[in-house]
Amino acid sequence: MADKKTPQLDELQNGKWPSFVTEIKKAAVKNEASKELLHLLERSYEEKRGHWKHGGIVGVKGYGGGVIGRYSDLPEEYPHLQAFHTVRINAPSGWFYSTDSLRKICDIWERRGSGLMNLHGATGDAILLGTTTDQLQPIFDELSEEGFDLGGSGSDLRSPSCCVGPARCEHACYDTLEACYNITNTFQDELHRPMWPYKSKIKFSGCANDCTASIARSDCAVIGTWRDSLIIDPEEVKNYAASGMNIQHVCEGCPTEALKYNAETQELSVIADECSRCMHCINRMPKAITPGNDRGATILIGGKSTIVQSAFMGWVIVPFMKMEAESDYEEFKDIITRIWEWWDENGKTRERIGETIYRLGMSKFLTEVGLPAVPQMVYRPRANPYVFWPEDEIKK
Ligand code: HEM
Ligand code: HEM
Ligand code: SF4
Ligand code: SF4
Repeated sequence: MADKKTPQLDELQNGKWPSFVTEIKKAAVKNEASKELLHLLERSYEEKRGHWKHGGIVGVKGYGGGVIGRYSDLPEEYPHLQAFHTVRINAPSGWFYSTDSLRKICDIWERRGSGLMNLHGATGDAILLGTTTDQLQPIFDELSEEGFDLGGSGSDLRSPSCCVGPARCEHACYDTLEACYNITNTFQDELHRPMWPYKSKIKFSGCANDCTASIARSDCAVIGTWRDSLIIDPEEVKNYAASGMNIQHVCEGCPTEALKYNAETQELSVIADECSRCMHCINRMPKAITPGNDRGATILIGGKSTIVQSAFMGWVIVPFMKMEAESDYEEFKDIITRIWEWWDENGKTRERIGETIYRLGMSKFLTEVGLPAVPQMVYRPRANPYVFWPEDEIKK
């Protein structure tokens, strides 16, 4: 194997971006599977097709998810890739690590796997790329010893993830890290043992900038906001004006025309009831404008990718909810549990929650999970008159 050439991959070591080929070559020095992976990948580049068999079902005792099984379709030629499974590790909130904990993961993985990782998978897990079936249980046992658990896969609650939130960001409207950690712990059973029609994801963003892209990539997005007025520091407004910033231009970017600037007095004011909390003015003038004091989150449902019904972005089901550690996030846990139960009863096989709601209607969904219908849930009212009336609401 060692004398095989990889001319196409070698091309990808040129240029300024860090090269994944260089990284695989580093791992290949110590590991046969990584070496074979390099050669198999070169072959895929030549033939323009993948060389992994369809599917693969492996795991660890007690869990129904967390490991993605994978087998090469050329096991005779690449014996070390006969099995090349992926292990998902539930990452710490906001991906904050100590070098100590990373070293522990690396030590286990160098002994028992390919040495290749993905930091991180798109859902947020730390991904260990490539090991054999017999190594799975020992890897899991050793990771557990060091305090790590597997992430989700299959028709379960996938690993929740969050933005860096209050650890590093002055915009955070709730403690995304704590909420993500707490709620992940509460729903360990749902995460490890798939029990639903399909996958379900939760993502936590501290404000409407949505740095986890929760609105597009999670079935349930928890996006920080506030319900009193944003706070303006008049002195800092003057400092921005003195630095040459065009504050009038910032006001022109306000989607609801809620922000007004008096250039003569250098006073900035907001009509709190009109502000849609879009974050634009705060992003432009972070020293002068901050979110309000009465903070919480908006809960959205339904975000998903294309298959089957088309891609959905999440839409509002709760305009404002307090997200405080002191309450143990009871209100959120209560509503998400009711939603999952409804979906489990009504969802078809491999139907995401967004599609189930689309098929059966918001009105049925809201009534049955116990949420009030409010104007914030729609962009505009329906344009057609095909309205369904429950029989008991019609006066005869
Ligand atoms: C004096 C003549 C007509 C009157 C008074 C009339 C009245 C109406 C009314 C009251 C409706 C129900 C609207 C609703 O449900 O909100 C309707 C629907 C309809 N009418 Fe007429 N109509 C007339 C002529 C026509 C003609 C000549 C055609 C076709 C050649 C037509 C085709 C339709 C269709 C297709 C609908 C159903 C629209 C829908 O709800 O999707 N109508 N009409
Ligand atoms: C390719 C041709 C046609 C298509 C694709 C079509 C499609 C439709 C659709 C989608 C509806 C609404 C059904 C609903 O939501 O309940 C409808 C209703 C209706 N169509 Fe057509 N239509 C066609 C031809 C016609 C023609 C030629 C006529 C009359 C000469 C007609 C008369 C009506 C009427 C009266 C309604 C209302 C029925 C009701 O609301 O009870 N349609 N049509
Ligand atoms: S989503 Fe908001 S709170 Fe979270 S990191 Fe981004 S800007 Fe900060
Ligand atoms: S947050 Fe957005 S909507 Fe609110 S005042 Fe600022 S620019 Fe306008």
